[in-house]
Amino acid sequence: MNADGLDEAEVRERIAAARCLAVLTGAGVSAESGVPTFRDAQTGLWARFRPEELATPEAFRARPAFVWDWYLHRRRSLADVKSNAAHEALADWARRHPGRMTLITQNVDGLHQRAGSTGVLALHGDLMRDQWLEPPRDCCDDGELDAGPPPRCPHCGNLRRPAVVWFGEMLPVDALEAAQRAAQRCQVMLVVGTSGAVHPAAGLAITARRSGAFVVVVNPDQTELDAVADLCLRGSAATLLPRLLSD
Ligand code: OAD
Repeated sequence: MNADGLDEAEVRERIAAARCLAVLTGAGVSAESGVPTFRDAQTGLWARFRPEELATPEAFRARPAFVWDWYLHRRRSLADVKSNAAHEALADWARRHPGRMTLITQNVDGLHQRAGSTGVLALHGDLMRDQWLEPPRDCCDDGELDAGPPPRCPHCGNLRRPAVVWFGEMLPVDALEAAQRAAQRCQVMLVVGTSGAVHPAAGLAITARRSGAFVVVVNPDQTELDAVADLCLRGSAATLLPRLLSD
C-alpha cells in the first residue's frame, strides 16, 4: 500500500470510531456534477463575474433586474444537474449510521438534498428559493406577485430576492450555531471541496481542530485550511469520498 493508501486507511478507521462525524463541503463537491466553482482560475464564477456586482445587497438594490436574472440563469442551469458519487456517498453513510453525521455545506445548489441527505446545514442559503428583500408588510403575498424582474408585491413594490447569503450578510443563525456545535463535538471533520477562503464557514474547521477533532481536507489542490488539517488527501471528492465512507 502506498502512503496515500495508508492515509486513507487511517481516515476510514477514524471515521468508523467517531461518534460524531462533521462534514464541511464547498463548491468542489459539486464540480463533478458540472456546477462551476467560484475561485477556479478559468471556470470559476468569480473569475468571470465580479462578486461585488452580483453577490451583495448593495449590488441587488443598484441593479435588481440584472442580479435577479443572473441568479435565475444559475437556478435554471441547475435544473438538469445530477448529484454525483460524493453527494451520494455522504447520504448513504448517514443513512447507514443514523445520528452520527452533521453535514454542513456552503453550497446553494441543493445537490446534497437531491442525493437524499437530510438535515443539511445550508450556511449560504438555497438558490432554488427566493424571499422578500424588505420585511414583508401585510400586503406582501408570495402567491400574488407582479412578474418583474424581479417579481414584486403589486401593492408596495417590495422585491423578491434569491434566498442566498450575500457578502456582508449574516448567516442563518440556527444553521450556524448547529454547525458550530457539531464542530466542537465531532471526533472527525472532513473538509471537502472548499478553498477555505470564506468565513465564518472556514472557521468551523479551525474550531473542530481546536476542540480535538481529526481534520481531513479532501481536495485536488491546496487550500487555505491545509495548515489546520491533520491530513490532506489530494483527489476529487467523487473519487475519494466513496472510498473513505465505504464500510
Ligand atoms: P471555491 O471556488 O472557493 O473553492 C472550490 C474548491 O473546490 C477549490 O479548493 C478547488 O480546488 C476544489 N475542487 C475543485 N474540483 C474539485 C473536486 N472534483 N473535488 C473536490 N474539490 C474540488 O468555492 P467555496 O470554497 O465553496 O459564498 O467558496 C466558498 C464561498 O465563496 C461560496 O459559498 C460562495 C463564494 O463566494 C457566497 O456566495 C456567500
